[in-house]
Amino acid sequence: MTEYEILTTNKELAARAAELIYDAAQEAIQERGRFTVALTGGSSPRQTYELMAHATPGQMDWAKVFVFLGDDRFVPYSSTDSNYEMCRELLLKHVPVPDSQVFPIHTDTATKEESAELYAETLAQVFETPQSGPPPAFDIILLGMGDDGHCASLFPGMPTLTVTDQWVVSSPPGTLPPPVDRVTFTFPVLNAARQVLFLVEGAKKAPAVRDILEGNAAVDVHPSAGVQPVSGKLLWLLDRTAAGLLTKA
Ligand code: 6PG
Repeated sequence: MTEYEILTTNKELAARAAELIYDAAQEAIQERGRFTVALTGGSSPRQTYELMAHATPGQMDWAKVFVFLGDDRFVPYSSTDSNYEMCRELLLKHVPVPDSQVFPIHTDTATKEESAELYAETLAQVFETPQSGPPPAFDIILLGMGDDGHCASLFPGMPTLTVTDQWVVSSPPGTLPPPVDRVTFTFPVLNAARQVLFLVEGAKKAPAVRDILEGNAAVDVHPSAGVQPVSGKLLWLLDRTAAGLLTKA
């Protein structure tokens, strides 16, 4: 049974998300000396990032934080479609995280395939683990969910859903905007995380939320159903409208 929490307002959802991220950071830094986080794009995490931009030093020791992106659109950082740019604008430029510890997905490579290869190499380097071995275990991976049930850039019906031997892959656009190529973590990386936190807002998500959380979703149809951390925690934070069709809401 997947765990979820329903928050009354988007502000409350952001506050709860930030609280969980600070807790994960404190635990990781205490136990392993650093905190590895993968941010997500989309609109649902925006308020969380805005809140975290004002984290106190007691809440977040930015000097020990390593920031990644779980997926990005294959567009220049200057584009309004860039997930990295959104994260930078709302969060990263406001906090004292060292530049050397921020790892955007490169979108200036000749092809999206090269970008995916480069990002997998970056993961291997930072986590000091060969790509032939088990995937890196992020302390926390944040995800949003599209109306069609996609997460990161793992879209319904695409071959990316069955990749087991790569950490990062490229993808053509899904059916939802923007219609641009993507680079994305695969399920093996998402499911190796110590914690995965979904941030889901809006009534349009309600049917997919119901199908996934009530156990009636096929991964091929609603890819977010494939996020099942092997030994990590999974929590969905929902606003009232996204939770609107849940039987027990
Ligand atoms: C992207 C995302 C994507 C997003 C969902 C939900 O690049 O678009 O990373 O997976 O999280 O589409 O987006 P919203 O929060 O805007 O609904």
